Amino acid sequence: MNTAGCLCRKSAVYYPFGPFLGARVRDNFEWGGHQFKKGTLVLLDVYGANHDPDLWDNPSEFRPERFKEWEGSPFDFIPQGGGDHDMGHRCAGEWVTIDVMKVSLEFLAKYMDYQMPKQNLNFSMARIPSLPKSRFMINSVTRQ
Ligand code: HEM
Repeated sequence: MNTAGCLCRKSAVYYPFGPFLGARVRDNFEWGGHQFKKGTLVLLDVYGANHDPDLWDNPSEFRPERFKEWEGSPFDFIPQGGGDHDMGHRCAGEWVTIDVMKVSLEFLAKYMDYQMPKQNLNFSMARIPSLPKSRFMINSVTRQ
């Protein structure tokens, strides 16, 4: 597949739901040496922040235990927004999402077998949600 000119990635097992977030600047401000003018459309690089090698050791490695003793800032890991849940703009569904994911992953990993047929797992980082071209197909599904 030709990926030239397209912000595409190939992933065997995962892809970002929302690679970036957009917002419009309400009032002029300066941050990190940059001027933000009222009315400007700004994009927050969610994927980039979650994979920043200055914050994360081997950011692409699936290593959930890294969060066991993690004492990072609420702005370091932002798949569902950053900052404070009560006063900020962070995802109101974060806790229910995490619980649903725990139950779903346990079921997929422990209670069923399946095959992944040949498929196109390329996805675009310029699309929200960044679904793989084939979505995600499984077959030969059996209960364990
Ligand atoms: C994988 C699942 C999900 C992801 C990745 C996700 C991600 C996000 C992100 C990135 C934001 C924007 C935060 C910001 O603007 O700073 C957001 C906002 C929000 N999400 Fe989610 N979300 C998920 C599931 C859910 C679910 C299941 C619900 C409801 C049950 C939900 C409810 C909301 C609401 C109400 C907001 C707006 C919060 C506000 O504007 O103050 N989300 N979410």
